[in-house]
Amino acid sequence: MRIGVFGCGYVGLVTGACLAEVGNDVIGVDRSQERIRMLGQGEMPIYEPGLKSLINNNLAAGRLAFSLSAEQCVMHCNVLVIAVGTPTSSDGSADLDAVQAVARAIGEAMTEYKLIVVKSTVPPGTTQAVRQIIEQAQNGRAVEFDVAFNPEFLKEGAALQDFQRPDRIVIGIDSSRAEKTLRSLYAPYNRNHEKLIVMDIASAELTKYAANAMLATRISFMNELAGIADEVGADIEQVRLGIGSDPRIGYAFLYAGAGFGGSCFPKDLRALTHTASSVGSGSQILEAVQAVNIYQKDKLYQFVKSHFSSDLDDKIIAIWGLAFKPETDDMREAPSCVLMERLWAAGAKVRAFDPQAMQSTSDLYPEQIESGKLQLCEQAYAVLDGADALVVVTEWKSFWSPDFERICNTLNYPVLVDGRNIYDPELVAQAGLKHYAIGRSL
Ligand SMILES: NC(=O)c1ccc[n+]([C@@H]2O[C@H](COP(=O)([O-])OP(=O)(O)OC[C@H]3O[C@@H](n4cnc5c(N)ncnc54)[C@H](O)[C@@H]3O)[C@@H](O)[C@H]2O)c1
Repeated sequence: MRIGVFGCGYVGLVTGACLAEVGNDVIGVDRSQERIRMLGQGEMPIYEPGLKSLINNNLAAGRLAFSLSAEQCVMHCNVLVIAVGTPTSSDGSADLDAVQAVARAIGEAMTEYKLIVVKSTVPPGTTQAVRQIIEQAQNGRAVEFDVAFNPEFLKEGAALQDFQRPDRIVIGIDSSRAEKTLRSLYAPYNRNHEKLIVMDIASAELTKYAANAMLATRISFMNELAGIADEVGADIEQVRLGIGSDPRIGYAFLYAGAGFGGSCFPKDLRALTHTASSVGSGSQILEAVQAVNIYQKDKLYQFVKSHFSSDLDDKIIAIWGLAFKPETDDMREAPSCVLMERLWAAGAKVRAFDPQAMQSTSDLYPEQIESGKLQLCEQAYAVLDGADALVVVTEWKSFWSPDFERICNTLNYPVLVDGRNIYDPELVAQAGLKHYAIGRSL
């Protein structure tokens, strides 16, 4: 198949590269000149494990190309995938400007039948609105086309595996021609057993939000319980094991921690809440999930503040892990941002290290780097030099078994805040460190 993918971000690049890998002819289109230039030269604008070599192999094999021209892509391809961003607007709704712009460009350029597949996360009704935009942009030419909604469930950090070995492939369609094309597009990932779940378009659009809202709910639920655990002298890690062993509950997404961030959960919850209110439906659970998360993201700052009795002026706080989760460089709505911004406002400085998110952090905070409020160090242990406390915000594997004695001996004050509950309290105490963690009654 000839496939055009609009948007060369986390979703678009993974989709394009994986579809090229199984033999399709793929063009990735982006409006960012810099992205297209980098990709054409084999450089990656984002970090995702394995993506660089997959893209470069397919570029070399001639199955993958990148372009700024929507028109050329529409002319060449018969399946057009929309994978542009849908960030939060000022009123909390999903900002659909990029999706609509791509729909207009497709409508203006198409001269023969196309299947347009919306992969961006969008509120119910958007895919039908895309159909109308394309019709209008055709300006009376009445070229035949179908639209479909095909949510993406990949996780950053494991995106290639998720795309190539999906749990399920949800397809929202209203035409048998679209279904047939999508069945054949996904056939390489559907050999072992049937993974396609075919449904109407509105249900597929809501399914994506429902999945993220459910996962976020489990996290906020555990964070709320962690607060209770601290008050009653319980350990949330024991509670997690005790409930996760029930197969009706399961272990996934039951970790208490510094709150959820990233490009999806927070924005998708806001968008779903906005959709609920715009159709006059209740969203009490969704609102509570968000409120708990906002409270939780402040927790690490509160530990540091209370340890130093609110006197953070000129304190230097070391941070391990900046990305919103391990194995990505994505800083969107990362808990580390809340912590750093609160520390700076209180007069403290930050020394930080992350295995992949150093560039995205310096892109985000150039002024703080310039003024010395933020110092990014090349190595994990280098952040400890001259620092007053260490906060572990992201649970990268390389932070799991640190030299606690070295941490204790290097810091000005022996304070370790474990924002992901990855450390054994006994080992930390043995090293002489004062240990803060989430819901562990320390
Ligand atoms: N990142 C994830 O883990 C993930 C997972 C599942 C679904 N999603 C959803 O997929 C969509 C894309 O997410 P992402 O993380 O890949 O976003 P992203 O911000 O990484 O990438 C979006 C890309 O779209 C490009 N773009 C914007 N407007 C454009 C236009 N008019 N024409 C061409 N390109 C344009 C941007 O330059 C950018 O490169 C969002 O709706 C998101 O909610 C994301």
